[in-house]
Amino acid sequence: MKHAPRLSEQSHDIQGMLKSGFGWLTTSRFRLLTIRDEKLAKAWLAELLGTGLIVSAEQVGKAKKKQKESGPLDAVVAIGFTYSGLVKLGCQETGDHPFPTPFRSGMGSELRAKLLRDEYRKWCWTDHEGPGGGEVVHILLAEWKKRGAASRLPAINPSAFSVIEAGDDSDFFDANGKLREPFGFRDGLAQPVIRGLRDQDGGSLAQARAEAGDLYDDRLVEPGEFILGYRNEYDELTFCPDVQGWASASGRFTLNGSYLAVRQFEQKVDAFKAFEASHSDFERANGVSAGEKLMGRRKDGLPLSWKGNTNVPVSDSAADAFRYRVEDADGFMCPKGAHVRRSNPRDSLGIDVQSSIKSSKLHRLLRRGRPYAEASGRQGIFFIACNADLERQFEFIHQRWLQNRRFGTLESQDDPIVGSQSCPKAFTIPGEASGGELSLQHFTETLGGGYFFLPGIAALKFIARV
Ligand code: HEM
Repeated sequence: MKHAPRLSEQSHDIQGMLKSGFGWLTTSRFRLLTIRDEKLAKAWLAELLGTGLIVSAEQVGKAKKKQKESGPLDAVVAIGFTYSGLVKLGCQETGDHPFPTPFRSGMGSELRAKLLRDEYRKWCWTDHEGPGGGEVVHILLAEWKKRGAASRLPAINPSAFSVIEAGDDSDFFDANGKLREPFGFRDGLAQPVIRGLRDQDGGSLAQARAEAGDLYDDRLVEPGEFILGYRNEYDELTFCPDVQGWASASGRFTLNGSYLAVRQFEQKVDAFKAFEASHSDFERANGVSAGEKLMGRRKDGLPLSWKGNTNVPVSDSAADAFRYRVEDADGFMCPKGAHVRRSNPRDSLGIDVQSSIKSSKLHRLLRRGRPYAEASGRQGIFFIACNADLERQFEFIHQRWLQNRRFGTLESQDDPIVGSQSCPKAFTIPGEASGGELSLQHFTETLGGGYFFLPGIAALKFIARV
């Protein structure tokens, strides 16, 4: 296929989570299913499809327009499959269009563990038998609901699946209706805008453009970076693997799908708070906490370089319209090793602003995870990143930026929030008279992780065929 299909004509087939983070649905729950009986599993999937809970990008767009009159979406579900899950359900890749190696081998495989610097893990679940053990899961079921809305999920039969649950109905939204992760930071704020998918939103697009000014284009990314089958930032069509028996005039099995890099983190909230408290003199002197320096954002979501009034509400588009190279080259505001600066260096890594932004766009993630809390008191982020090329996007960011102990001019330190478990941690705050090097604890621990494929809706029906 030489030409990409028109995104606007395919949005009925794209799962809604690629269009929206469902910010109006304030509770979420993630379930990891291991298939015990293929036939029963397919029957359950067919039943799930019948509930209408799996919505398309088109439905989300319509519901958002109606939302002001209290739109109809009070619960939605998204579903993805590991490679072994697809195989169990009878989807065999074709010889001509196989799945890419990272997805086929799985985040749990030995090679991926090395690449991601996960060698020392002890996980509860993963997508592949490998070092560190854990239950091998086949399906990710993500459910978002309005608080108090009853779950319409078909009952999960224990003969069909065993289930690991992350989260209950805890609400991580603040008084202004904004999502905060367990350390208290606004999250889900910096997101790429998928060209052609958001454009359908008309008014809200124009408003976001007006709020971000010229820097809006920094966020605009070609659809093939997130949705298989479309043009990507190299101006090429993203590779679409295929499965045997699939026959559709519109394209291969994986058209309109995406890969999900999923990691379940535990966050050590008490340790993080104790760290901030032990540096309260830093906060008094600088007006931002040491924790905010580690993250690279203020807790309310404003960039550390924000010059405007911090007491008036600021839109997400405006709060995401900033660069590093000119205003903050040395990291006096947002340290070079801070979590957000490592995970998206924006305009700071290449030879000039434009080429840096162009190359950053090759390594972007659409983040759709949510915080979770369990009855045991454990809490953290159930991290989900949508991308079309696991190696070039999620793995590159993880390995080359977050876990890189020689990132930019930094030596012997990795990401302060999600760095490797296996090394002592340090963090440099530029501009401090003391030299600014803090030693840190590990504030997060990875409990599980895997790669999933998020199919288009026609492909889901194909998987569920009995
Ligand atoms: C417990 C684990 C994590 C926590 C608490 C955390 C927290 C945050 C927070 C508070 C922000 C700033 C708010 C925002 O921009 O939405 C952020 C941004 C971001 N995080 Fe994380 N994160 C975690 C794990 C990860 C992982 C594993 C990755 C990628 C492999 C990642 C990639 C990103 C990216 C790409 C951004 C946006 C940066 C930007 O565009 O400015 N995060 N994270």
